[in-house]
Amino acid sequence: MSAGDDGAQRGAAPETLAAQALGRVDARTGALVPAIHPSTTFERDADGGYSTGRGYIRPHNPTCDEPAQLLAALEGGADCLLFASGMAAATAVFQSLLPGDHVLVCRVMYWALRKWLIDFAMPWGLQVEFVDATDAAAVAAAVRPGRTRLIWIETPANPTWEVTDIGAIAAIARGAGARLAVDATVATPVLTRPLALGADLVVHSATKYLNGHSDVLAGAVVCRAQDAFWQRLRAWHRDGGAVLGSFEAWLLLRGMRTLYVRVRHACASALAIARRLDGHPALHEVLYPGLQSHPGHAIARRQMDGGFGGMLSIRVVGGEAAAMAVAARVEVFKRATSLGGVESLIEHRASIEGPATPVPADLLRLSIGLEAIEDLIADLEQALAPAIPPRGTRATGELPAQTSPPPPAPTSPPAQAPDDGVSDAIARVLREQVAPVVLERGGSIRIAGFENGVLSLALEGSPAAAVPILDALQAQFRHHVPQVTQLRLVGAGEPAAGAGHGAGGAPASRIQALLDARINPALAAHGGRAILDAVRDGTVSLRFEGGCQGCAMAEVTLRQGIEPMIRECEPHTVAVRDVTDHPAGTAPYFKTRKG
Ligand SMILES: Cc1ncc(COP(=O)(O)O)c(C=O)c1O
Repeated sequence: MSAGDDGAQRGAAPETLAAQALGRVDARTGALVPAIHPSTTFERDADGGYSTGRGYIRPHNPTCDEPAQLLAALEGGADCLLFASGMAAATAVFQSLLPGDHVLVCRVMYWALRKWLIDFAMPWGLQVEFVDATDAAAVAAAVRPGRTRLIWIETPANPTWEVTDIGAIAAIARGAGARLAVDATVATPVLTRPLALGADLVVHSATKYLNGHSDVLAGAVVCRAQDAFWQRLRAWHRDGGAVLGSFEAWLLLRGMRTLYVRVRHACASALAIARRLDGHPALHEVLYPGLQSHPGHAIARRQMDGGFGGMLSIRVVGGEAAAMAVAARVEVFKRATSLGGVESLIEHRASIEGPATPVPADLLRLSIGLEAIEDLIADLEQALAPAIPPRGTRATGELPAQTSPPPPAPTSPPAQAPDDGVSDAIARVLREQVAPVVLERGGSIRIAGFENGVLSLALEGSPAAAVPILDALQAQFRHHVPQVTQLRLVGAGEPAAGAGHGAGGAPASRIQALLDARINPALAAHGGRAILDAVRDGTVSLRFEGGCQGCAMAEVTLRQGIEPMIRECEPHTVAVRDVTDHPAGTAPYFKTRKG
């Protein structure tokens, strides 16, 4: 191809487009490698216009052009936006929706996105509902025509590599007037092209296979059509500003040039390793879509072309300790998070995902890189050998029963049992939909009573675990169990539905009674307490004591939990202020060390 030519317009195969970075040759210098443009600003014409089409780097970074256009071409999409990370790309899709919109999200997925949906999207007002996306009938039952705006799936999905039938879910989305977004980070366009199967958006953590060298943090969204939703997403990208930098964009393009050869090599090695480990006496399960035993194998054969991905997981006999010991013994694999790089990685997922994780404690996730396959297999064999139980002692009783169960939810029968069907349905929604979300946010919840359509739930732990997302939780119950018309949270030990908090007394004592009944039982769980300082001219001043001072969730608890409750109890409230002298400030802090 000569200077100025564009391979993308000449119908070249994807491998060719990738290897030649769209086949472009710099018209001025003849360079085969595009330049980096670090300039943040671009000259304006004498008449004030921007005839180059660029004014400022945030929306118009020229170094992003090639990688974005290349990815759009590989995915068969109409346009592509590059973000500062995969999380920035994924969250931009949700943030382009509106509060109140209903979204269906696969239950098994990249954990940080699930956590973000629970911690931020739900309090912000998205009606997020988790569903088993591998069960198309369950998705069809959960979708709400006219109300569901987005279905989000990840396939293969972290870290059990569940496979979702993109075509089937796309048909359900279309029928309900919703969009389908697919996180195809693990599949890459080498193996699956979701847009061709009916999806509307493809999302990537480009940090992974697209770049492939563990040295760039990047994300991407590709669209099927530049419709109104895409324009909103584009505006979010431009105005929110989580855009990709020039150097990262340049490195990303360089990484994408070898995408096809890297992914195919990783797939071949992963399949060889999965086959070798399948039936290994130190393992009771190998999770890889390329194995016939994998529940998603048949769909994977249909929608993955040329391989089943470079990711697999193994479940070690003997549980968490045995799994950690295997990870400690590897010498070629690196013990590190992330995936899709040239070096092979091993990781114990459950220990970094926290107590609410659905990931079994005996699971190790493997990202297969480009090393010699003999080295990788020998390394795993030597690491697994000491984990082989002596003959006849293989203990199966200690093994978790499922590969991706929702975390167990503390449930108890309703105080006043309704008819059995309703009772069972409430318990199921609590167990499968609500309790995992609350647990993830640091609380636990159980049924306290059900009377005249009012379902009372007793919350233990931080009020921020459930209060800010009460509307979303109520929507889940109302959708699945229409007999539930209202949800009430009660403190542990508090009487169930019908116990009024606002009756009698002056505003100050009513508010303190409210705090003591509904907020302080939960704050007490981590040694904290909310105290009414004053009520003056409609302004309610509160102080936090004990463990709530400097608590990362204090501000959220106040704004989204306590304040709405006070306003409900005292409708003339003008403002609710926190007058605590927070020793650690109100900003969240993040632990970087264990202990
Ligand atoms: C499937 C998947 N999606 C999204 C992300 C988030 O990407 P990033 O780390 O680039 O923000 C990850 C990260 O591991 C991932 O594995």
